[in-house]
Amino acid sequence: MTHLVSKPNELRAVLNSVRQQQVSIGFVPTMGNLHPGHIALVKEAQAHCDYVVVSIFVNPMQFNNSVDLENYPRTLEQDLAALSAAGANLAFVPEASALYPNGLEQETRVQVPGLSTMLEGALRPGHFDGVSTIVCKLFNLVQPNVAVFGEKDFQQLALIRKMTEDLLLPISIIGLPTVRESNGLAMSSRNNRLSAEQRHLAPQLAQHMQLMATELRHDNRQALQTRTKAQLEQQGFVCDGIDIVDADTLKPLTQQSRRAVILVAAFLGEVRLIDNCVIELNPIVDQ
Ligand code: PAF
Repeated sequence: MTHLVSKPNELRAVLNSVRQQQVSIGFVPTMGNLHPGHIALVKEAQAHCDYVVVSIFVNPMQFNNSVDLENYPRTLEQDLAALSAAGANLAFVPEASALYPNGLEQETRVQVPGLSTMLEGALRPGHFDGVSTIVCKLFNLVQPNVAVFGEKDFQQLALIRKMTEDLLLPISIIGLPTVRESNGLAMSSRNNRLSAEQRHLAPQLAQHMQLMATELRHDNRQALQTRTKAQLEQQGFVCDGIDIVDADTLKPLTQQSRRAVILVAAFLGEVRLIDNCVIELNPIVDQ
């Protein structure tokens, strides 16, 4: 049975006594509505650590759209059952007032320069400041040895790696490949908000991305992006971003780039889906 804690002080007390037993702590931060992708993160944390903490907190600071925040699926009871079944040791489920005691506007923020404002950050102003701030707070509270994140949020993972390095936090950050449904759709809590018709359409995003990956070597990048956008929009998506950048820097590809990443973001109705695909380069010529 997973131990449920909601107060930061109680969390610190429980984890202090866990640490006294020379036990390593793994951490998986989530916003709940857990799916097999989250459980894979828990299993990965268990492979590295003796004691695994999972936080469930729908972080208001990272939503730049109040409708998205209101509609974000909240399924605490099922989440706790899934965590117990997976053998997670502790679920931290705080109230917003416990994590933002001075209210959102007055809060100190953690900002990762560059990574927080480029690509996805330019499309969702303030989003990544919300992510780095909450993850930093949670890292402070949990003080894990290892923290595990999904690679589906590719830029988020890069941002957290940089924040951890810049703030000299003694935490190993592990990224885990995206878990997909059998039709290729990247698992996401937002998928639950898709209608039956949209669900049918949604795997096309990953399929177009894979097609881009195979055509990347032979085709002009700009033409490939324009064509993919047109094809997705014809099928009913509204594209929010299709980028091909250096996977290590998230900056434009150069002759020195070792890996490229295709980052796609598209709306189906009100639901924003994202996905990505990393391609090893040998090296690709800048087009
Ligand atoms: O990836 C998420 O679910 C969130 O961005 C995170 C890392 C839990 C921070 O709120």
